[in-house]
Amino acid sequence: MNINSLISHVTLASVIFAGAAFGASKATITMQSFGKTKDGADTALYTLTNANGVKADITNYGGIVVRLFVPDREGNMDDVVLGYNTVAEYILDTPYFGALIGRIGNRVADGKFKLNGQTYNLVTNNSPAGIPCHLHGGTLGYDKVVWDAEPFIENNTPGLKLHYFSVDGEEGYPGNLDITVEYRLTNDNSLKIDYLATTDKATPVNLTNHSYFNLKGEGQGDILDHVLMFNAANYTPVNAGLIPTGKISSVKGTPFDFTSPHAIGERINDDNEQMGFGGGYDHNWVLDNQDGDLALAGTVFEPTSGRFMEVWTEEPGMQFYCGNFLNGSHIGKSGKSYHFRNGFCLETQHYPDSPNQKSFPSIILKPGEEYKTTTIYRFGTR
Ligand code: GLA
Repeated sequence: MNINSLISHVTLASVIFAGAAFGASKATITMQSFGKTKDGADTALYTLTNANGVKADITNYGGIVVRLFVPDREGNMDDVVLGYNTVAEYILDTPYFGALIGRIGNRVADGKFKLNGQTYNLVTNNSPAGIPCHLHGGTLGYDKVVWDAEPFIENNTPGLKLHYFSVDGEEGYPGNLDITVEYRLTNDNSLKIDYLATTDKATPVNLTNHSYFNLKGEGQGDILDHVLMFNAANYTPVNAGLIPTGKISSVKGTPFDFTSPHAIGERINDDNEQMGFGGGYDHNWVLDNQDGDLALAGTVFEPTSGRFMEVWTEEPGMQFYCGNFLNGSHIGKSGKSYHFRNGFCLETQHYPDSPNQKSFPSIILKPGEEYKTTTIYRFGTR
């Protein structure tokens, strides 16, 4: 189904799909216009509702998860992701709220890497401590493009298939990259993301999603009381420019040790050089599972609502960023400003600066190979 032809017929939200229900409620998908980009392209907002009434609003602009309503322990639904109500606000200024990120998620030192004897120059669009780097795919990353969208329901599970063709040379990257991302809102209350890509030239690929979560609900203050546990005995320390030093270091005895449960705020103000560089947590954890199978990377629990979120991934790493750059300048969906540390991200990924770090797992995709990786955010209460 072509979204443009659909949008021209649909102004108000209308049900475009309803699943077959066997006892449970029917999964549904509705869509409505999400406004136009500066170039006049139509964007749409798809509302995926699973059999339990859990809802995700996803737009084909940047593949952004705009809203995600999940129950607390009393069954009250709150929107647990940060974001905006209109595409115009996302276009104007966003710290990657909810978006798909690529071609390389995270940082590349000085925006340069060598591949097959050739040096590639990427846009340097970020400069922590005044040290320039390439961040999250550049000035026009996958978070800022309009994806083709195809909603579907299979086995009473609503989904949205997004497709983007990233041309050779885009943002300095080699090779045409043909990308498909499939979101599914499954009936165990998981948001499942499948990333697929193929190329016609060797190229680095590291796709992720940049949702900011607050399990109390977006706009409900800081996330310092959320309790984390990561299946990660190591992390990749960084320099002042937030580029890994190349070391894989043990978390033991540091504020980076989440192998047992700790609140985000518990050690965030410890006198620690790494914490200073990040302005708080903004680091890549080396997940214990390195074999590419789907494994539990971590769990986040919010005590007042009783909500928890598990992150499952096939990726070897996860960036935990706790909203250190949020400063109240972004006004979110319910009219509240997002202040310092009002949301956190768990970006499953290969390690930052991988193309320049020979000891890190490679992110080079070659012609004939398939980039294929799955991440799941599963919600529950206790
Ligand atoms: C990432 C980075 C952070 C920051 C945010 C966006 O997750 O690790 O340093 O750039 O994106 O604000």
